[in-house]
Amino acid sequence: MHFESKLFSPVTLRGLTLRNRIVLSPLCMYSAQDGLASDFHASHLSAFARGGVGLVFTEATAVEPRGRITPKCLGIWNDAQVEAFKPITRFITEMGAVPAIQLAHAGRKASSAPPWGGGKPVAPDDTTWGEGGWQTVAPSGLPVADGWPSPKALGVEEIAGLIAAFADAAKRALAAGFKVIEIHGAHGYLIHSFLSPATNQRNDAYGGDLEGRMRFALEVSRAVRAVWPEELPLFFRISAVDTGGWSLEDSVTLAKALKAIGVDVIDCSSGGIAGAPAFRASDDGRPLPAGGQRPLGFQVPYAEAMEREAGIAAMAVGRIVDGQQAEDILQEGRASFIALGRELMHDPFWPLHAAEALGEADAFSLWPEQYRWAIVRRAELGQYQAG
Ligand SMILES: Cc1cc2nc3c(=O)[nH]c(=O)nc-3n(C[C@H](O)[C@H](O)[C@H](O)COP(=O)(O)O)c2cc1C
Repeated sequence: MHFESKLFSPVTLRGLTLRNRIVLSPLCMYSAQDGLASDFHASHLSAFARGGVGLVFTEATAVEPRGRITPKCLGIWNDAQVEAFKPITRFITEMGAVPAIQLAHAGRKASSAPPWGGGKPVAPDDTTWGEGGWQTVAPSGLPVADGWPSPKALGVEEIAGLIAAFADAAKRALAAGFKVIEIHGAHGYLIHSFLSPATNQRNDAYGGDLEGRMRFALEVSRAVRAVWPEELPLFFRISAVDTGGWSLEDSVTLAKALKAIGVDVIDCSSGGIAGAPAFRASDDGRPLPAGGQRPLGFQVPYAEAMEREAGIAAMAVGRIVDGQQAEDILQEGRASFIALGRELMHDPFWPLHAAEALGEADAFSLWPEQYRWAIVRRAELGQYQAG
């Protein structure tokens, strides 16, 4: 059976057309030095562009040095970092995908070790990861957990400086060749820690009621939208619910306010407000989602709530594992985009394989031309099994 799926139909956002609705979710690789993209990043991200993904996101990329989760995380606060990204965005574009960047600040969860190093705070004199730890910042001086240092509570002028850092990073992202920005407002990092009452105990304009706690997220988004070209889309990742008192209803309110500012897509994750990073390694190095086992598509209802209640396009993410599941989510109008993390790490050619499994008309057209003729020949020889 040959049909034209929604998953593989091109989609236009503002002035940008994506070849399909499959998105590489941001995935920290902890492989940068001085925030510079490395050969590892080039090889990693290019695999997904070759593999047929429509939109390829970088990992959380810090807008200032203090905003890195670990000393090995990417940054975009200087021109050398812009130059390091250029060959990567160029190659992704050549492969027919769109390069996208997640702009982030880790807040009180910064200055920690990579998952395979235990994910714990790095002491200032510990240079295991190429650089010692640093003083973290947050809305209030509450540590992540026992054994974590207290972050410095940000003053109002420092908050203004951070909003400007997000805008500067957006300008640099454009210079680096990115066509989509996602603001990281999830997983207990700086923006989320302003939103959640568990981590924001301020009693000034940036805290208190929902309006006050949303202020930083909205000011960052407004500042980024002001410098980001009108014809290019802006995404915002939320933790749709957390364990610190942030509710789905709050997310709907936030999404409506973000839409009014010019945010185009809400990327719906969850959790991460308390404890160590939402995704960290178990003792044997395997990544574990926070909260242990979760059912397939466990976060899809959050995307659905954004689509239906906030009237904004949403991206679903989290344990979406095969093409039919992804297609059903789109067909049912529960989300407009499908982001994949671990499944794409496991199989960077997931889109190409999903197209075959779905019986997509012209399933081989997504393959890079360097491979396509030989893959078609392989099929003719009966060396492949659909599904
Ligand atoms: C290794 C790894 C690194 C991640 N890094 C980030 C990140 O930089 N930014 C982010 O917002 N989420 C990050 N996440 C979460 C993923 O983007 C995604 O939301 C999550 O893995 C759920 O999707 P999945 O079930 O398809 O993997 C990471 C997850 C993993 C497994």
